[in-house]
Amino acid sequence: MTSAPAWWQRGAIYQIYPRSFADSDGDGVGDLRGIRAHLDHLSDLGVEAVWLSPIYPSPMADFGYDVADYCNVDPLFGTLADLDHLIDDCHARGIRVVLDWVPNHTSDQHPWFVASRSSRHDPRRDWYVWRDGAPDGGPPNDWSSSFRAAGPAWTFDEHTGQWYLHSFLAQQPDLNWDNPEVEEAMHGVLRFWLDRGVDGFRIDVVFKIAKDPLLRDNAGAARRHDEDWDTIDDRLRGIRRVVDEYPGRMIVGEVYLLDLSRVVSYSSGGDRLHMAHNFVFVLLPWSAQAFRTSIGDFEALAGATVWPAWFLANHDHSRVASRYNDDAQGAARARAIALLLYALRGTPFIYQGEELGLPDAVIPPQRMVDIDGRDPERAPIPWRPPSSAGPAAGFSTGEPWLPLGADAERLCVERQAADALSTLVLVRRLAALRARTPALQMGSLRMLETGADVLAWLREGDDDRVLAAVNFASVAVPLRLPADLARTAILLLSTAPGRAEAEVDLTAFRLGPSEAVLLRL
Ligand code: GLC
Repeated sequence: MTSAPAWWQRGAIYQIYPRSFADSDGDGVGDLRGIRAHLDHLSDLGVEAVWLSPIYPSPMADFGYDVADYCNVDPLFGTLADLDHLIDDCHARGIRVVLDWVPNHTSDQHPWFVASRSSRHDPRRDWYVWRDGAPDGGPPNDWSSSFRAAGPAWTFDEHTGQWYLHSFLAQQPDLNWDNPEVEEAMHGVLRFWLDRGVDGFRIDVVFKIAKDPLLRDNAGAARRHDEDWDTIDDRLRGIRRVVDEYPGRMIVGEVYLLDLSRVVSYSSGGDRLHMAHNFVFVLLPWSAQAFRTSIGDFEALAGATVWPAWFLANHDHSRVASRYNDDAQGAARARAIALLLYALRGTPFIYQGEELGLPDAVIPPQRMVDIDGRDPERAPIPWRPPSSAGPAAGFSTGEPWLPLGADAERLCVERQAADALSTLVLVRRLAALRARTPALQMGSLRMLETGADVLAWLREGDDDRVLAAVNFASVAVPLRLPADLARTAILLLSTAPGRAEAEVDLTAFRLGPSEAVLLRL
């Protein structure tokens, strides 16, 4: 028998990038009141939870992923009271709230780091990673920042004559998780928010909180020394113990490792994460074979006990409609991807704007603000047609911090909500279908052999069988199913605009270009 799902297994978790969601006060940057004013959008999408990218006080060198105070809200986004109201309003609608917890590094303006850099003898000195330089006067080892443009992962601090480690920007010094006081303090941050009623955390670069304490070079080594060190297991267990002090909470980690067995291990055993974001998936080319292999590999490692988190877009990656835009199929492919995410075994993570099929925005060079080229996928959400709402498309009454993408007139929420064939309405229908179809929530998954162009799988529940199929070709193709499957089915939903629910003959069923379907067998 399939078991009853936890809330985080039932439906989608929707990622809000607060700067770009909705601006309530006209300063051009989205805020918490803006989110509260658009909760109908989330209810209509049937999301189980929202994950908010960081809303804490921050100098914004990395747009909030440089935290200066873990237990407050940046005035740009509002106040702690605004967040409490947002949590209450979401809960009243049955929507959970997940915060982004950034344990690997703070801002260089965080009081911990200000103290740490003040003197070699400060009690907080060892809360960060300080070392003498190499004998040649260079940095202590060969580690580099994850941001290519930032160069080495070390910055020399004149005042105390040592180097400090930063896996990202120099304004994001890495905390020293080998120091138990740091671990304790960061657990305290979790408790602060859990006590306030948040339902869980997305854990930023969680694989980075365990590094080789000997700080050995990466070059020539069999494995990387600057992440995913053996100490990770205990650290994950420690985090999980804190979260488990509170009933019904969930943690999902950003595990940007390309070895799937490592990714799966982060959420195995029932005592680590509930879910781990799988980045292998985000890097896949548009190919049925590539998707089949990747999903199959993950499922084989996961078995029945590890619950997958599927996503194909976030605030760090090109949007699906642009990434897969060969052959002018971007819009159709974005629709197919939405179906795929809702129909796999696991939790779909939907990045704001993907439900609209938005492409990346074109950012003129003088408006670029991110060091790592991630502005295009962070452009503000178009809510209303510019022809009636002005150039910021209902996102703001002021000048948006990033320019909006093209075609806000056609792609905005208001227009799509009024168009039964839009991507927005399709995603709402997908969410509703999943919500009333136990096989799509907790059913088993079996990949089918359906040729080079078509990815197809079965979801089987207690007395329900749903078949999902995605055509990766840009031409129509027949759906060739294994002979032992039923010959007729009910077409529940298609991503092809206008193709209606109907009984279909599977022996003669064809998928249109980039079309995806759900069929009840
Ligand atoms: C994660 C975030 C990214 C941020 C980085 C450093 O990868 O998703 O936006 O820049 O961590 O915190």
